Amino acid sequence: MAVYKVQVATGDISEAGTTNCISITLVGSQGESSRTTISCLLLPRTEKHLTVRCARDLGPIVLVRLHKWRLFLEDAWFCRDVRVTAPDGTLYRFPCYLWLEGVTTVEVREGSAKKLADDELEMLREHRRKELQARQAAFRWKNFAEGWPRCLNVDSVLELDSNVQFSCVRATNFNGLLIFQAATHLLSGFLLRATSWSSLDEMRSIFSRTRGREIVPEYVARHWREDDFFGYQFLNGNNPTVLRRCAALPDKFPVTPEMVAGSLGGDTSLDREMAEGRIFIVDYEILEDIPAGTIHGRRQHVAAPLCLLHQGADGHLRPIAIQLSQRPGPSSPIFLPTDAEWDWLLAKTWVRNADFYSHQLLAHLLRTHLLAEAFAIATLRQLPSCHPLFKLLIPHFHLTLHINTLARSVLINPGGIIDRGSGLTHEGLQLLVARGLAQVTFASLCVPEDLGQRGLGHLPQHHYREDALRLWGAIESFVSGLVSFYYGGDAAVGADPELQAWALEIFTNGFLGRASSGVPSSLQTMAALTKFLTMVIFTCSAQHAAVNNGQYDLGAFVPNAPSSMRHPPPAAKGKASLQQLLDTLPEVDTTAHILVALILLSSRLEDARFLGQFPEQRFTEAEPRRLIRRFQARLEEIREGIEERNHRAALRYNYLNPGETENSVSI
Ligand code: FE2
Repeated sequence: MAVYKVQVATGDISEAGTTNCISITLVGSQGESSRTTISCLLLPRTEKHLTVRCARDLGPIVLVRLHKWRLFLEDAWFCRDVRVTAPDGTLYRFPCYLWLEGVTTVEVREGSAKKLADDELEMLREHRRKELQARQAAFRWKNFAEGWPRCLNVDSVLELDSNVQFSCVRATNFNGLLIFQAATHLLSGFLLRATSWSSLDEMRSIFSRTRGREIVPEYVARHWREDDFFGYQFLNGNNPTVLRRCAALPDKFPVTPEMVAGSLGGDTSLDREMAEGRIFIVDYEILEDIPAGTIHGRRQHVAAPLCLLHQGADGHLRPIAIQLSQRPGPSSPIFLPTDAEWDWLLAKTWVRNADFYSHQLLAHLLRTHLLAEAFAIATLRQLPSCHPLFKLLIPHFHLTLHINTLARSVLINPGGIIDRGSGLTHEGLQLLVARGLAQVTFASLCVPEDLGQRGLGHLPQHHYREDALRLWGAIESFVSGLVSFYYGGDAAVGADPELQAWALEIFTNGFLGRASSGVPSSLQTMAALTKFLTMVIFTCSAQHAAVNNGQYDLGAFVPNAPSSMRHPPPAAKGKASLQQLLDTLPEVDTTAHILVALILLSSRLEDARFLGQFPEQRFTEAEPRRLIRRFQARLEEIREGIEERNHRAALRYNYLNPGETENSVSI
């Protein structure tokens, strides 16, 4: 007689328990136990202990089968894990973290994944094959729009597998916010005006009542006119992805030395400043000829500006010339800081409007949300739960499929929030994202290379660069440790068919097989694998936080991030005024509509999981758990450094604080 001690744990979330009946079968390399009942009442956050008796020793336990059935009502169960102690005292751990629904049997593999596929028992190979087959049926690709990364083939969050849906807590939280948003939208229809703001001060009234969240918007309202703050936002604002060093002026932007001599100061010249790496450029060429839409039946306008910036002797970055189209000429003057106040301010506001589109649709939607979804789907389809890379990556896709499905239903759909509140047509939105994907390179997704290629290695007060590089380093070190532990050499990387299928699936569906992107379609070395995994985790966590968390802070004061422009860009100087600016910015109700979306999208929900937090303990070996503790300690050091810097700053940069950076794209 062999006696096995079994412990079965139910998950922590409130709806995890069940009144349905659960039983278990132990599967060893030498045989199986009989099916043994665990209980017909399992409560959340509890563990059940039982004894399984077998006529003979089962050998090493490689699988457990969990069976769920019911007499009457269905009641789903969330199993956290199962632990089995063999007669010789060996402890086997089976991390599960799955919902069991209906009458079903689920097989869970023993957690240690050190042995890769080659030396597996036949029964485990079959288990892997069946698991992937089921996942590939549940998670299928579809095209949402031409030229976009492919996405999950569902039309509503109701069709999602329970294992990727919002939990009850988050759904309650989020639905509350959505109801609030809908109510405000209705109010905006009846009470708010489809007319211009009467003054700049009136715009502040919209966030003056958001207690605790008004500090940064108030700062923005006080400083938005300043060239220093305008330049600062290209370094540390919502869109830190567009600034690059300018070594030579493009022909389409004919700024002359005389135009900017006054802005450069002292005895220097444009050529000299350019040669010494102190001239920078932002080019929104990607917006050229993107179709503009209508709001309240009135035509909106989109520009594709260019902006030249200079790093002054004090280290600050300031704009020195702006052209509001890609075609120079008499009707597209180059605006300068020496122009009349409202001419210059209006030109800068047009740049902020272009940056709104670039930020929301490219830096945020495309380069974090949509790519994260492609990474998530490929992982679910190609890596079984016992694969070490599944265990590494799955926390970084927490709720991504749910939030993106929701975004396709209410945010970026025809008639959705972006369609109604921004100046682009739905076709324009689709075209812009497709153009964006055609320009994405692997290097631009890897922050050390991206910053190097953009020539941004030296600017002071570049908090995004400092924090992003530290986080990249911490993630890379963590990933490198895991890759070495599980693969041990380059040959094992190249010989892992599941890993190769995963990489190819991302290349094909996320990047549409475009080889010129530099995105690898296979990974042959530990170094290449480490870099790719670091990019995936960084994109889903840090990069998303950098472009997501400040949306309300920096967008609440509408002139700083207008979602639409109601008049065409000025074709001559000397005509701008405060009234023209007010008549160009979005109307009161459009502003309110967008702001509620920004509040929602930069909210922190109750069950957020931050970088380095892994409440699901999927790794059962000692070394990965040690690497996780080391990663957490490094993140704590980074957090302390950021908070120390913020303590001294007039405007804190906290978007990459690991304590504010979620593990995944979940909002
Ligand atoms: Fe987001």
